[in-house]
Amino acid sequence: MNQSVRLGVLGCGNVGSAFVKLVNERASTIAARTGITLSIERVAVRDLARARGTGLDDSVFSTNLREVIEDPRVDVVVELMGGVDPARELIIDALGKGKPVVTANKALLAECGVELFGAADSAGVDLLFEAAVAGGIPFIRPLRESLRGEPIRRVMGIVNGTTNFILTKMTEEGADYGAVLSEAQRLGYAEADPTADVEGFDAAAKCAVFASIAFGANVTSGDVYREGITSVTAADIAVAKRLGYVVKLLAIAESDPLTHELSVRVHPAMVPTTHPLASVREAYNAVFVEGDAVGSLMFYGRGAGGEPTASAVLGDVIDAAVNLKKGTHAMLGTFVKPKFTRIDDTKSEYLLTLEVLDQPGVLHSITGVFAKNGVSIRTAEQEGIGENARLVFITHLAQEAAVRKCLRDFAELNVMKRSGGFIRVIGK
Ligand SMILES: NC(=O)c1ccc[n+]([C@@H]2O[C@H](COP(=O)([O-])OP(=O)(O)OC[C@H]3O[C@@H](n4cnc5c(N)ncnc54)[C@H](OP(=O)(O)O)[C@@H]3O)[C@@H](O)[C@H]2O)c1
Repeated sequence: MNQSVRLGVLGCGNVGSAFVKLVNERASTIAARTGITLSIERVAVRDLARARGTGLDDSVFSTNLREVIEDPRVDVVVELMGGVDPARELIIDALGKGKPVVTANKALLAECGVELFGAADSAGVDLLFEAAVAGGIPFIRPLRESLRGEPIRRVMGIVNGTTNFILTKMTEEGADYGAVLSEAQRLGYAEADPTADVEGFDAAAKCAVFASIAFGANVTSGDVYREGITSVTAADIAVAKRLGYVVKLLAIAESDPLTHELSVRVHPAMVPTTHPLASVREAYNAVFVEGDAVGSLMFYGRGAGGEPTASAVLGDVIDAAVNLKKGTHAMLGTFVKPKFTRIDDTKSEYLLTLEVLDQPGVLHSITGVFAKNGVSIRTAEQEGIGENARLVFITHLAQEAAVRKCLRDFAELNVMKRSGGFIRVIGK
């Protein structure tokens, strides 16, 4: 028997307009497959005069967000407006009225996801958010459902297309950050104000969301250690490349198997060219999941853009509609505030580049600092000669605090011209 489910959509921008078009194009196929006919009943926007090319009648649109969620004809609410307020209150109210909600809003989930999950659970309806992390890539549902019985060790993702585009161009063209950012802005891959992307805020929000789901933990954006890509230089990338690595901005959530402390962090990292994440180029996203029994999994695809994101939203809407008609809803589980590992207490291998004076005894002073701080060296080499000599080290697994102490100690040496930064290395 065919049943109708009517949608109220908050926001009709990039994702919202693509979503409305997909629903209209695919409603009959979806009805044939699921027995549910979806229709767009109401859409809320800020500016009624803006052309959206959705084919919907003008009477469907409103500037009154609350009117949309309260309309008794609306069965399922689809939140595609973004931002924390007023989205938070509207979603809680919609759930309270027994209306399932689908959202793509990572900023909101990373701020108050656990509160919203609780509201959905109390109301006994769905709150689904596949599109909030890595856009069109189906990754949250596998984590939430297929991998429910799997103790996850680490989730590691390239979840920001803008920074991956910039780092790919820097790697493949040897270009500097500034020049590539301008090109990315011209091509529409980066915003006029790129801060949210290049400083890692967007990736940190996504990291908080996937860490919550992967580890049943209450993680917010503020819990995530964050470094962006603005200090990555063409020279760092060239060294990495020569040593068999590419530099990627990674969002990492990792549980210590003994203490169960959670490390959540976003930072540039050197990934061996043999690792599956190394081949993720341009604006593509990928998430690499490591579990106890399942081993390694990788989810790859378009992490943003109106259509891919709308596709993930539509999948959630169909699930929510089917569940609504069956009187059931997806289980989100419990979310406990974990103990977080401070970045100083994390362990990694590190690449360090040091510009030093070309004189005898330099290497002895440097290795003395490493030894004093208990950091052992995996590889050491000199790049260039004379005035342009640089020493390049990769450490063995070391504690971050000890490596940072080495950098402070190097700066005190009189043979040091410039103590370059360091890049964490993801082990082979
Ligand atoms: N774009 C992507 O590739 C992508 C990928 C994954 C997730 N997302 C998430 O999807 C959501 C939507 O992103 P988007 O790129 O589609 O944003 P967008 O293009 O800026 O669209 C936002 C829409 O919401 C409406 N809106 C915002 N505030 C409103 C208010 N107070 N009252 C009424 N309407 C309001 C806007 O109305 P007007 O059109 O009248 O201004 C617009 O239609 C965000 O949470 C974003 O993080 C986006």
